[in-house]
Amino acid sequence: MTKVVIVGSGGREHALADVIGRDADVQVTPGNALIPNSVATSPLEIEADLYVIGPEAPLVAGMADQLRNQGKLVFGPGPDGAQLEGSKAWMKDLVMEAGVPTAQHGTFTDLIQAQSFLETMTAPYVIKTDGLAAGKGVLVTDSIDEALTAVEEYLSGIAFGGAGEKIVIEEGLIGPEISILAITDGKKAVALSPAQDFKRLHNNDHGPNTGGMGAYSPVPIATPTLVNDVLDNFIQPTINTLNERGIDYRGVLYAGLMLTSEGPKLLEYNVRFGDPEAQVVLPRFETSLTKLLIEAASGDIKAEPTFTSDAMVTVVCSTEGYPTTPKVGDPITGIEEATHTHGIENVYAAGLDLNQKEQPITAGGRVLAVTGRGNTIQIARKNAYIGADKIHWDGLHKRQDIAEGI
Ligand code: AMP
Ligand code: GLY
Repeated sequence: MTKVVIVGSGGREHALADVIGRDADVQVTPGNALIPNSVATSPLEIEADLYVIGPEAPLVAGMADQLRNQGKLVFGPGPDGAQLEGSKAWMKDLVMEAGVPTAQHGTFTDLIQAQSFLETMTAPYVIKTDGLAAGKGVLVTDSIDEALTAVEEYLSGIAFGGAGEKIVIEEGLIGPEISILAITDGKKAVALSPAQDFKRLHNNDHGPNTGGMGAYSPVPIATPTLVNDVLDNFIQPTINTLNERGIDYRGVLYAGLMLTSEGPKLLEYNVRFGDPEAQVVLPRFETSLTKLLIEAASGDIKAEPTFTSDAMVTVVCSTEGYPTTPKVGDPITGIEEATHTHGIENVYAAGLDLNQKEQPITAGGRVLAVTGRGNTIQIARKNAYIGADKIHWDGLHKRQDIAEGI
């Protein structure tokens, strides 16, 4: 059987392991206490037929090329292509060159220049760290005072250290957001079934931006026409421009899009599967995910993937204090019961650990993502919440409105 190593330790890697595990032998490194076949061994020391790198940090750090240089087959871009996520300024420059529709912007390291530029913009104001900030480096605010203060805190390094010492200030776009994840072999791409995630901490999109508090797939507003438009006018021109720069990008190209009154515009590229989007998109694969990733890593995707018409909704359970200062160490109950509840696809584990009695305890911000399935989004939603409501710890937080009214 094909042997696959998955790098990472979150809910996304748990979902990857489940779905790749349908037709391959999987090991996850480092994984976590609830992901089956988690091992502490470095991926560089495990022999496998395919290596799938989950999170952005090792991609930006160059792990994919390190493995490729050992002759391994790897799904994930090198550090050159990973700059699409590792540097927002680099990404904006590349997509402008590619002619991809995106928000107007300026890139700054100087406080006075940044603040003068900001004064020329209108609300909502959007400030982004150039570097990686675990999905938290973006401020969207209607308050010019908050925006001016943020610019000062970002550029001085107070807010995000080195990641914020260069910033991108953007035109604020308005409209619904969708995530379209494409898989590319470096030359061409296929799209996965779209997802929508819920980035803000609280109901009705209030509170700070997080890594994502829930998601659903499919997305009724993301029609096949829209997906084709994104492949033709966003993804393919981006791949072509990467090629012109000598970059062979094999992996996920995740387009975060806003559907504005002027049409879709690119908010961001991620160089990996979304989390928690992976927990709703991947279990919907009908064709083999393993085969698709092997083909992409080998430089020749041969067939489009297909997806079940069943819907999936995932609800993230997070700790008190997330996204700034997660409170950890609290015993978790109900995971088994939730996992075996009718209509639950799985309970995907991220920020958790085991205590001395081998009981799960919280160990991060986003702890679990409970994915429900159903014939419709509303049935999947109901199932996800029935499952999530069985899970408890002191300070557990979840949004109540994931996929409501869709
Ligand atoms: P990003 O990490 O760039 O996707 O930004 C995180 C979130 O901030 C996005 O999902 C949007 O909700 C919001 N955002 C980013 N850029 C903009 C923009 N130009 N206008 C409005 N909202 C934005
Ligand atoms: N859920 C958004 C992300 O993975 O970046």
